[in-house]
Amino acid sequence: GKPDKKFVIAVSQCSEDVWRDKLNEELKTGEYLNDSIMVKLASSNDDNVLQNKQINQFVDEGVDLLIVSPNQLSAISKAVERAYDRGIPVILYDRKTNSDKYTAFIGCDNYVIGKSMGTFIAQQLHGKGRIVEIRGSEGSSPAIERHRGFMDAVKHYPDIHLVASEGGDWKEESGIKAMKRILQQTQDLDYVFAHNDRLAWGAYVAARQMGVNRNYKYTGVDGMATEGGGLELVRDGVFEASYLYPTKGDEVIALALKILNHQPYQRDNYLSSSIITKANAELTLMEARDAERQTHKLRTLHHQVDKYLSDYNAQKVLLMSLGLF
Ligand code: FRU
Repeated sequence: GKPDKKFVIAVSQCSEDVWRDKLNEELKTGEYLNDSIMVKLASSNDDNVLQNKQINQFVDEGVDLLIVSPNQLSAISKAVERAYDRGIPVILYDRKTNSDKYTAFIGCDNYVIGKSMGTFIAQQLHGKGRIVEIRGSEGSSPAIERHRGFMDAVKHYPDIHLVASEGGDWKEESGIKAMKRILQQTQDLDYVFAHNDRLAWGAYVAARQMGVNRNYKYTGVDGMATEGGGLELVRDGVFEASYLYPTKGDEVIALALKILNHQPYQRDNYLSSSIITKANAELTLMEARDAERQTHKLRTLHHQVDKYLSDYNAQKVLLMSLGLF
């Protein structure tokens, strides 16, 4: 019989990097596991204008649901509001807009992440020391919230000083530049609190490139299991800590399905996670790589079934043309 109409789930990603790649793969895997959906991906490479355009296009195509990671708090609100006003359910994912016009939010609590890191660093320093902050993209909700959480944690320690705070975007290069600006002002530092692992790594590279002969300590966020990712860097003692920033594409799809099928759902969904230190980095890495292998198997299986079906259909066409089917 003719297959039922599939729900089209459109995904608008703000950036392109290993973390987004992992998430996109998980969302695509959701398509394999659920016959009723089709997942369309668009990526805007940190460009607000492009992201608005991509969302508007999805809306004009009449997609059934939108999943959006808004690059910045206010810059993407217009397109998101337009979608929402047209009756397309919108799931905000990982980052927020400054508008109440969204159907649901799912992601980690970035305020909690900043606060946990602030407390961790202050305790490591026994309540006394000099910290610098390397911020993620200006005006993007995780950067705002990680900063706020961090400040709220360290304000309880009168001898902890934030001596500099520099930002850029979320990329390694930006971490290098920010750290170089800081080191030109002062090298009397103890800890680097970076808003993600790529920035923390950039800061580490900058200190080495400038030949600074001091052992600064570094923390980041993301905890990717990729080669050279946060989990390895913590395990190997390059970073003191990272914070696992879960992708959880399967939960995002599950939420989308509830909304599409008019089932009850929660509007704000905070994913649980935790700080990664040397004590749990190795175990977390092993578990993450194990999960990756399972996903890979699933994908291989999917391709085999696809190939089997297309071979079968080709056979069928051939037999039909010979009048034998
Ligand atoms: C990935 C990323 C992460 C960061 C998150 C914040 O695109 O830059 O490194 O934790 O986005 O939204």
